[in-house]
Amino acid sequence: MVTGGSGLVGRAIKDLVSGDINTDHFIFLSSKDANLCNYEETKHLFDTLKPSIVIHLAACVGGLFKNMNNNVLMYESNEDINRNVLRCCVEYNVKKCVSVLSTCIFPDKTTYPINEMMLHNGPPHSSNLGYATAKRNLEILSRLYRQESKCTFVTVIPTNIFGPYDNYNLENAHVIPALIHKCHLAKQKNANFVVAGSGAPLRQFIFNRDLAKLIMWVTKQYTDHEPLILSVDDKHEVSIHNVATKIADHFGYAHRLVMDTSKADGQFKKTADNTKMKSLYKKSMGKSFEFTLFDEALAESITWFVENFEIARK
Ligand SMILES: NC(=O)c1ccc[n+]([C@@H]2O[C@H](COP(=O)([O-])OP(=O)(O)OC[C@H]3O[C@@H](n4cnc5c(N)ncnc54)[C@H](OP(=O)(O)O)[C@@H]3O)[C@@H](O)[C@H]2O)c1
Repeated sequence: MVTGGSGLVGRAIKDLVSGDINTDHFIFLSSKDANLCNYEETKHLFDTLKPSIVIHLAACVGGLFKNMNNNVLMYESNEDINRNVLRCCVEYNVKKCVSVLSTCIFPDKTTYPINEMMLHNGPPHSSNLGYATAKRNLEILSRLYRQESKCTFVTVIPTNIFGPYDNYNLENAHVIPALIHKCHLAKQKNANFVVAGSGAPLRQFIFNRDLAKLIMWVTKQYTDHEPLILSVDDKHEVSIHNVATKIADHFGYAHRLVMDTSKADGQFKKTADNTKMKSLYKKSMGKSFEFTLFDEALAESITWFVENFEIARK
């Protein structure tokens, strides 16, 4: 059972397993199936579906500006969703539950690269205190339930995700989809492509298809109680300015790119260490994980948005 099955990551997992003969055993859920903030609705779902494995993706998600302007909502909705899902995993004898955290919940003041052991070493960036606190609590609750139940709760920490099926909303989305949408509109209106902030912050981005493969691998192979960072190498960290330029180049619109330095930048960087993931993957699969090249993944995400403009979340 995949909660959040209609989102950016859920749709990528769905595409990945759709060629699998066992696909019938997957159930992809959206908020239309149940509001996971509500315990009775969550319980009804588990009672009906009786899942043996849960991939828990559902969350109230957004970029810097959604987080900054809605910290209480981000805290309360994610806290409610996570408590209900994990509690039902125990009550309905789920064997394994894989939950998803984020590198943006790491401490703001830290040394780099950040690894799995540093998650709780200091407060997160104030811009996303609500979301980060709820996600950190998800990690703690997973560990506590592990000790007191038979369910193998594991957590993963992906870096910034992008790809087809993303939320391309101009105000609330993450940086890549928001910039793709913005550049598309700017070109249509013959206006400047204005990017909020200085463009200096650095980010690691993972393609949703790559993350889907890694989450399926974790679901089959990873059983540790420590969270596992799922990220590209730190040498593939890129600046927001660099990303904006690549997007503008794709649209043939680089000459109209303008940085609005009056807007907030958010956390400067959150470089994550993927050493543990790479070593465990190689050990269990006998080969290194192959990430999609950033430029290829970005081009595919832009093409998907343009071709699916009418139906894309925006
Ligand atoms: N996107 C990123 O850059 C990023 C980075 C790191 C970690 N993550 C984590 O990765 C996971 C997947 O993120 P995503 O980007 O795929 O999210 P997304 O595209 O925004 O999708 C969110 C999913 O959660 C569902 N959902 C939201 N509120 C719900 C509720 N109250 N009850 C039931 N379902 C609800 C949505 O259903 P509807 O479609 O019906 O609304 C949707 O399926 C999340 O846990 C997120 O925190 C994301």
